[in-house]
Amino acid sequence: MGGAASSIVSTELDLAQPDPRHLEAVVALRCAHLAETQPHDAPPTVEHVRRALAGVAAQRNFEVRVAVVWCDGAATGLVEMVSSRKGDNAHLLQVEAYVMPFERRRGVGTRLLEVAVGRARAEERTLLIGTTTERVAAGEPFARRLGARPGLVSLVYEAALAEVDTALLEAWLRAGSERAPDVELAWLGSPYPEDQLASLATVMLAMNDIPLGDLQVGDRTVTPATLRDQDGMQRSRGDERWTLVARRQGGMIVGATETLWNPANPAVLVQLGTVVLREARGRGLGRWLKAAMLERVLRERPEARLVRTDNASQNAPMQAINDALGFRVALTETVWQVEAEVAAEALGIS
Ligand SMILES: CC(C)(COP(=O)(O)OP(=O)(O)OC[C@H]1O[C@@H](n2cnc3c(N)ncnc32)[C@H](O)[C@@H]1OP(=O)(O)O)[C@@H](O)C(=O)NCCC(=O)NCCS
Repeated sequence: MGGAASSIVSTELDLAQPDPRHLEAVVALRCAHLAETQPHDAPPTVEHVRRALAGVAAQRNFEVRVAVVWCDGAATGLVEMVSSRKGDNAHLLQVEAYVMPFERRRGVGTRLLEVAVGRARAEERTLLIGTTTERVAAGEPFARRLGARPGLVSLVYEAALAEVDTALLEAWLRAGSERAPDVELAWLGSPYPEDQLASLATVMLAMNDIPLGDLQVGDRTVTPATLRDQDGMQRSRGDERWTLVARRQGGMIVGATETLWNPANPAVLVQLGTVVLREARGRGLGRWLKAAMLERVLRERPEARLVRTDNASQNAPMQAINDALGFRVALTETVWQVEAEVAAEALGIS
């Protein structure tokens, strides 16, 4: 355990035009975080982080605040706070806190959470949620000390692309078109075509069917504006997104799957959500979409070595598809929740 720091101060970042010293601090903290949690990923550069923050500042759907905590003058902790501006989950503040490994147990994490509680009060948010990973054991006792309860176990899965069973992909592709002859698959470009946004938003809304365990989180709103913002943030980060949709004759989108890939971290392909409208489920569309996406990835993304995806531990249908494709659990994460006032009391804030 380190000694208590003699001076701990926090500074909030101007996301659109960060002070170069603040930006460097965020890069150093994010690199250290990644080295602990995903050590094989390429660390972000200053330019990458600058563009990502500018993308966040430009979007309108979420209020995002980032603060650095300085301990005796050195950048030691980072807290990122996100709340929805869409009218959904008006009670919620999402908080991610990180402290440099060699600076732990000196009260910096406590200071980060004080900043978060202050933010929650300013925005009248009553519940904080945050994620810990099994790769940093300190997360759990820290969360418990704040009075937080586990709300959801989330599993990060990875599959080595070289080991994906291509015969299985072909079988799923064939079965997809046979079982759903009234449906065709189509790639949507980036940015999303404006005339597809309403239909795509309706499908993405069905992501709310993903079980969220005991988390006191309500349905998330998805509108064309949400999708435009998301697209803008991905472009700012330099992410290349592929979107594949399943469309009924007549054009209505009934299912979708998306991946992100960034040339700055070329070995990793992120598989985002796969979703099928309730009335179109049980006909192999989920498998078809995933197989068609992976088939293209194998052909056109030779730099990618692994696919990473996450999945709520109670999401049996998606887990079955991922298991068959060779995805294995790489990491277990826990999402915690605590009422802002319970955390305030634990922190001794009046
Ligand atoms: C969790 C984390 C933010 C804590 O930062 P920190 O600066 O070490 O936290 P503090 O010094 O303010 O600790 C506050 C209290 O939490 C508890 N705690 C923190 N780390 C602990 C550990 N490794 N073992 C047991 N208790 C611990 C203790 O009660 C501690 O008080 P004490 O030192 O007086 O006993 C840090 O370990 C970290 O960055 N982990 C990775 C990211 C993460 O898991 N974030 C979780 C929040 S979203």
